Amino acid sequence: MRGKTILLTGASSGFGRLAVPMMLDEGHTVIAAMRGGEARLREIFADEVAHHGGRLVSVDLHMERSASFADVARKIDEHFGGRLDVLVNNAGYGLLGPLEDQTEAQIRHQFEVNVFGPVLLTKALLPALRRTRGRVLFVGSIAGSIVSPFYGSYAASKHAIEAYAESLRHELTPVGVQVALVSPGSFKTEFAARSLVLSEGSKDPSSRYHDEMRTFERSIRSYGGRGGDPSRVARLITDLCERARIPLRTLIGPDAKAMSALKRTLPDRVRFAAMNVGFRKIMLGT
Ligand SMILES: NC(=O)c1ccc[n+]([C@@H]2O[C@H](COP(=O)([O-])OP(=O)(O)OC[C@H]3O[C@@H](n4cnc5c(N)ncnc54)[C@H](OP(=O)(O)O)[C@@H]3O)[C@@H](O)[C@H]2O)c1
Repeated sequence: MRGKTILLTGASSGFGRLAVPMMLDEGHTVIAAMRGGEARLREIFADEVAHHGGRLVSVDLHMERSASFADVARKIDEHFGGRLDVLVNNAGYGLLGPLEDQTEAQIRHQFEVNVFGPVLLTKALLPALRRTRGRVLFVGSIAGSIVSPFYGSYAASKHAIEAYAESLRHELTPVGVQVALVSPGSFKTEFAARSLVLSEGSKDPSSRYHDEMRTFERSIRSYGGRGGDPSRVARLITDLCERARIPLRTLIGPDAKAMSALKRTLPDRVRFAAMNVGFRKIMLGT
């Protein structure tokens, strides 16, 4: 297998940070997209830059700045002959908390980064992906199919990406471009510590959700710290860059698999009641 050219967003942290050396070890060329570009690449990946030199480059990418995506496509034209084998849409964050207390700016930003960013980046890079009969991977979430209280905006953004990915797969299968989703449960990345944004209104002591949110925040941060080994997800992403045929959706993590099985087997009424009681007991201690 020849080394592929892979553009990976969110390469600075978590799954992305772990996937970069795996991809390099497999002989691929990695365009590590991150806020801060080359300067940050050299800070975070000093060893990899030293060892893999020309096979690791960076583009400065903010997912909410879609005007810059054409520059990324131009860079691929100039440096890689307009050919890209894999786009991994991994960057994202979670806006959590009661929907009533989220501001319009917060909700719009969640969709800019988790939905419009990957959708428009994919659109900008499709000509380069078509040339190689390449592939597009989306890092979704179990929240892309299962919804709990306080996860509304994040879950809606991940549901949107699931729908987009599935439709794109239908449309691109005839031209040989494969599209796939990775849907992780909870994994111990920096997500719970630095990629969670909480609903603005609940910070106000007069909010009806203020006290619940304080408990929820403690629970969610400690729950994140108990997640699975994130290198498993990084390995899965790397494998999906390489396998000849890839499935539309791969769930990873015991919690993701269990929740998905419950969704398939329980009637909505029962599942909704169980989720509500479980959430209040585990996350709010009530
Ligand atoms: N960890 C989990 O349990 C879990 C479960 C399900 C799904 N996921 C999904 O996995 C993906 C990766 O998350 P992670 O767990 O690896 O978390 P992480 O360690 O916090 O990494 C998040 C990555 O996204 C980047 N990012 C966030 N906002 C961005 C923006 N506006 N523009 C450009 N880059 C941005 C971050 O860049 P900076 O370093 O510049 O902030 C960072 O590289 C996300 O899509 C997340 O929804 C995670």
